[in-house]
Amino acid sequence: MRGVTPHDTTVREAKVNMEQVQRWQGEFGDRYEARQGTTQSSVQARCDLLGGALDLVSDDLRDGLVVELGSGRGDNLVALEWLWGMSGVAVDVRRPPSHSRAAVHWLQASAGAVPLRTECADLVLSMGLLIHVRPDMRPPVLAEMLRIVRPGGHISVFEYFAPETRPVPYRGHGDMLWLADYGALLQQAAAGRVDLEPVDWGHAYKAMGDCDDLAWWVFTRGGGI
Ligand SMILES: C[S@@+](CC[C@H](N)C(=O)[O-])C[C@H]1O[C@@H](n2cnc3c(N)ncnc32)[C@H](O)[C@@H]1O
Repeated sequence: MRGVTPHDTTVREAKVNMEQVQRWQGEFGDRYEARQGTTQSSVQARCDLLGGALDLVSDDLRDGLVVELGSGRGDNLVALEWLWGMSGVAVDVRRPPSHSRAAVHWLQASAGAVPLRTECADLVLSMGLLIHVRPDMRPPVLAEMLRIVRPGGHISVFEYFAPETRPVPYRGHGDMLWLADYGALLQQAAAGRVDLEPVDWGHAYKAMGDCDDLAWWVFTRGGGI
């Protein structure tokens, strides 16, 4: 698959938070996966969410390559294939799920050290990943998002929002979920290094559809800086 070539991550791998990774790889992650269920209607709900949010850039995405960091069961990648024929690369610290879709290329890796070449993706996606990255571990993850996207490509982020970073207890843990303004944090990470323009943003309302309450942003990477 285009763009899926090895990339040396040995040095940056040291920055991974092993405690969090081990939780996702163990019972905590198994329970999370067991709560999810891929059905025709759950993928259709992802199509509605992604189709609406990415509408303004959809012409750029057709038949392109999407890399999702923290992809879970890969439902977003299936939705993006349905929507625009995109090829999907799923990056997750967990092993690929047993239902593993043939159309998705699975990489078991940390979002802070992604084994893909620089500027390979037409779209880099995070949905419910950044909220689970400990704030001091965020910089390598944001840097990887900015590294992987091609000039003219897009980054889209769907996460729980708060204007300032705030931990929220999650499934018995006080150090597994942080609300924040992830759009602003990505822009700060890009400042002076990568030309990143906000294209669209919004809020998905749980009360109005089959989705979580998520703030979302779509950015375009320019060719400058
Ligand atoms: C809340 S789930 C979201 C799954 C998917 N994005 C979705 O929308 O259904 C978070 C996923 O991120 C993965 N994850 C957590 N920390 C990660 C990291 N540092 N690098 C890569 N994946 C990670 C977990 O294993 C889990 O599958």
